[in-house]
Amino acid sequence: MSASAGPPASPARKRSVVRSLLRLWPYVRPVRAPVFGAAGVAIVAASMGLIMPLILKWIVDGPVADGDTTGLWLGGGLLLLIGYVEAVLFWLRRRLVARPLAGVEAGMRAALYGHLQRLPVTFHDRWPTGQLLSRGTGDLQLLRMFLAFGLTFLIVNTATIVIGFGVLMAQDWLLGLVLIVPVVPLIALCWLFETRFTVVARRAQDQMGDLTTVIEESILGIRIIKGFGRHRSQARAFRALSRQLMETELHKTRLLSLIWLVILALPELFLGIALVIGVNQVADGSLTAGTLVAFTTTAMALRWPIESIGFLLAMCNESATAADRFFEVMDAEVTPETGRETGAAGAGGAGDAAPDGLRFENVVFRFPDSPPGSPPVLDGVDLHVRPGETLALVGGTGSGKTTLIGLVPRLHELTSGRILLDGTDIATLTRQEVRARVAVAFEEPTLFSASVRENVLMGSDGAGQDDLARALRVSQADGFVRALPQGVETEVGEQGLSLSGGQRQRLALARAVVGRPGFLVLDDPLSALDVHTEARVEAALRDVLSETTALVIAHRPSTVQLADRVALLSGGRVAAIGTHTELLHTNAEYRHLMTGEQTEVSVS
Ligand SMILES: Nc1ncnc2c1ncn2[C@@H]1O[C@H](COP(=O)(O)OP(=O)(O)OP(=O)(O)O)[C@@H](O)[C@H]1O
Ligand SMILES: [Mg+2]
Repeated sequence: MSASAGPPASPARKRSVVRSLLRLWPYVRPVRAPVFGAAGVAIVAASMGLIMPLILKWIVDGPVADGDTTGLWLGGGLLLLIGYVEAVLFWLRRRLVARPLAGVEAGMRAALYGHLQRLPVTFHDRWPTGQLLSRGTGDLQLLRMFLAFGLTFLIVNTATIVIGFGVLMAQDWLLGLVLIVPVVPLIALCWLFETRFTVVARRAQDQMGDLTTVIEESILGIRIIKGFGRHRSQARAFRALSRQLMETELHKTRLLSLIWLVILALPELFLGIALVIGVNQVADGSLTAGTLVAFTTTAMALRWPIESIGFLLAMCNESATAADRFFEVMDAEVTPETGRETGAAGAGGAGDAAPDGLRFENVVFRFPDSPPGSPPVLDGVDLHVRPGETLALVGGTGSGKTTLIGLVPRLHELTSGRILLDGTDIATLTRQEVRARVAVAFEEPTLFSASVRENVLMGSDGAGQDDLARALRVSQADGFVRALPQGVETEVGEQGLSLSGGQRQRLALARAVVGRPGFLVLDDPLSALDVHTEARVEAALRDVLSETTALVIAHRPSTVQLADRVALLSGGRVAAIGTHTELLHTNAEYRHLMTGEQTEVSVS
């Protein structure tokens, strides 16, 4: 049950290529007909290539020996025809698999994306973005190429080799035997190669993921990098990683060229030996010239299938690694949904439960990956936000405020204790039900590359034009939104970077209030606003807050003014609760936080 650790740095565990690739079957199953059909077509095409030597044999021993011109034309025509049929079959193979396999790739990508959306926040805290990006793009592309090309030719070329050797043995078993001899050491060498190549291939793919992470971070963090003049050191770090990847790729190439050398040189040597024996046999009349021609052309036709084995094995390896990397993410556990799956009778929402507000009962929370023995971030929080009340949550930086409110929409699961919405334990609700009743706005106002309208309406399923206008008014965003080039239809850039910090924050606030949520949870919603805007947003927020039960994290007295009561979070517990004035008089830590006044009480 323990959450699987972060992205594995190196392929420590021994794994089987075949087992990894077999895991792809569920995705390939729906398109098995065209895929195997294509392999069948390719085998027929390859067999055509093996018929050619037999026709040659007939031409040499028949028409050529007898000086029969008509037979020569006939044979030539037949060769041409078979050549064309072979070409058309190869075209057909490609046509058959292209669309179904593009579908498989798209399907796997959709599955990965869907899974990433469901995975808990703790997973995303742990996994670098670039690793996930490279798995969703490069690795899946590699798998499609493997299924379209690698797998087919592994089957086809193996079949061709087996049939080809059958044909060779049938023509002259002695010569055939000479050619089979090098196959044994060849297979042994390929085996050895495979084990060494796997390790390096995995390293290359992981390093690619790290590199993607660096690129992604430096693009997202371009302002910081420029602002601190870090582009040189950033470029240095990038170069170091990129050089590392280059070395790994070169290592791969060295291994690959070595196996190619063996695969090319060994059969060549034995073909030479077979030719010498064959010529001698023709000279003493125990073999016809036609048979020797057929024999050598068959052997030549087998060159590509044999040569390709090394390359295909490498591809198998890389694909198995890609499959492993894909399934590492897919295997990461989604926290089980404990709530009722179906909202059948009585799940009508807040209406049927007596309003009881938001209750935290002895809430304990520790991050799953925190070192053992360290104290939990939240250690027995008891708090009751009464129905309709606005409660401000105050606490030193790092005291666990953001963590506490993240528990309400179930971004994290409690270690122990309960959280109740109008008397209903959120653990008995599905995440979807919880999130329909609770709206949140976080410290970092995240906007998506979409229009202002889409960004705000994301906050609620049923909200319409009026709700949008009201939400923008409440968050005092209507003024600047109207001034945007296309009003609410203006696309705000990636992460809303084309807007100012305060503007982004106001849109995030609009998103939180657009659905008139029963419960509103805000993480310092006014921190980036100037005093004048802040006063206006506060005035408008007051109306919204009067209709809902709200928990608002506050760092400044002005935000605290919005609240009916204030709770002080300290040492993982609610240390004090009361009105702003009460706490100012009775609690030294609170006084220190709100006024910056030095006190005799030590604040940890
Ligand atoms: N994903 C995480 N994994 C492990 N520890 C975390 C994680 N997120 C936060 N923490 C730790 O939990 C503690 C509480 O963090 P939290 O963000 O809740 O503080 P906060 O009260 O919101 O602070 P601030 O006022 O600065 O926003 C901090 O010590 C922090 O280091
Ligand atoms: Mg915080």
